Amino acid sequence: MAGNGIFAEILDGDVFKYYADGEWKKSNSGKSVPIVNPTTRRTHYKVQACSQEEVNKVMEAAKAAQKLWAKTPLWKRAELLHKAAAILKEHKAPIAECLVKEIAKPAKDAVTEVIRSGDLVSYCAEEGVRILGEGKFLVSDSFPGNERTKYCLTSKIPLGVVLAIPPFNYPVNLAVSKIAPALIAGNSLVLKPPTQGAVAALHMVHCFHLAGFPKGLISCVTGKGSEIGDFLTMHPAVNCISFTGGDTGISISKKAGMIPLQMELGGKDACIVLEDADLDLVAANIIKGGFSYSGQRCTAVKVVLVMESVADSLVEKVKAKVVKLTVGPPEENCDITPVVSESSANFIEGLVMDAKQKGATFCQEYRREGNLIWPLLLDNVRPDMRIAWEEPFGPVLPVIRIGSVEEGIHHCNASNFGLQGCVFTKDINKAMLISDAMETGTVQINSAPARGPDHFPFQGFKDSGIGSQGITNSINMMTKVKSTVINLPSPSYTMG
Ligand code: G3P
Repeated sequence: MAGNGIFAEILDGDVFKYYADGEWKKSNSGKSVPIVNPTTRRTHYKVQACSQEEVNKVMEAAKAAQKLWAKTPLWKRAELLHKAAAILKEHKAPIAECLVKEIAKPAKDAVTEVIRSGDLVSYCAEEGVRILGEGKFLVSDSFPGNERTKYCLTSKIPLGVVLAIPPFNYPVNLAVSKIAPALIAGNSLVLKPPTQGAVAALHMVHCFHLAGFPKGLISCVTGKGSEIGDFLTMHPAVNCISFTGGDTGISISKKAGMIPLQMELGGKDACIVLEDADLDLVAANIIKGGFSYSGQRCTAVKVVLVMESVADSLVEKVKAKVVKLTVGPPEENCDITPVVSESSANFIEGLVMDAKQKGATFCQEYRREGNLIWPLLLDNVRPDMRIAWEEPFGPVLPVIRIGSVEEGIHHCNASNFGLQGCVFTKDINKAMLISDAMETGTVQINSAPARGPDHFPFQGFKDSGIGSQGITNSINMMTKVKSTVINLPSPSYTMG
């Protein structure tokens, strides 16, 4: 149970504490933030509403702790991360329970998220030992006009304090994908979890606490974005921001100072289906890609662009699978569960109504109860409909029929987003050409878009983000290069 057993110390009455200076604390604000269960639409948990003064203290502690951490041997940092990963996996049940209650993630997927997170932390520890244990050695005589009088030694050093802001849909996994690279690289870490998902994140942080990381190295502040959001992202002590979420990221990047940013801000991932595609494979991937976690994934298939000649057949196959999707509460492991909030459900409904008014074909009847929206496939969507361009973050998927591959590529590239896309064809040569033409960070050939496995590079073009993630890229991004040049009085050439 959440807040029980080894997690008892993170709870005070009915409010979860925040984590600072190696301790679980109550905020001096005396205020709390309610977390509404998307299924019941009632307050399920409460977290501390931290104040700006508390953020200042956290930043001071993070700065001090980082100085010592940077001097902690790499193998020791890795050892602590492995320990945290093991504790996290051991306590997957209560953490998964929080995910079920806070964000209505189906119970099985919630457990998978925690296990995947433990694996990510361990892999990150191993990768860090490999890539941070090596630097470069350069000699000067490779550049014109130079003798071999200079030896340059480069290494990767920490940035300082990393601010991590993960989104509601993976509050544990997308938090550790920022925490683990930051720590292995010698940084300290301040986490601001999403409000929905905060309690799962606090439990995850407790696993790091139990692993024995030094005081102040990791902190987790909860509270209202309006109170501490800008204060955190514009804080002078922050040396790097890793953010995943919506277009708030664009305003963060405009306000942040001269610091490295890593941002993933959503997508409108297109699925281009050619005439020779295996339509059963496509239909299975549209269901998995479009409807898993009720479409609330940045990498969900968000528009199907299918060649007219195979469109009827594909739509029939997808329809046959949509009726089999179970709809209901996350506790019962239903495929489709309530979307995260009422405002999200209202937004999705707005897109559906716009498509209806403009003449899209409804393959199922539109149905909604509270935050629960039944899966809906919209055929014959045209570019003048909002759903053709906007990201519903819900179980509603538009199908646009195309007359040529070029039309599909054009639609994909006309989007503001450029996260991922996919193409289905048996012709690998065509697939490569289409992949090259699609302006997205990743193109999947014959499979739905997805971030994982978590060590693969993950990046968005255009409004989908800045920088590349994935374990190796995140470690590199959270370091800077330092050079030391040894100047010799006379050229020296190594003899064999
Ligand atoms: O931010 C990425 C997330 O929304 C999707 O991740 O693992 O479901 O592809 P994944």
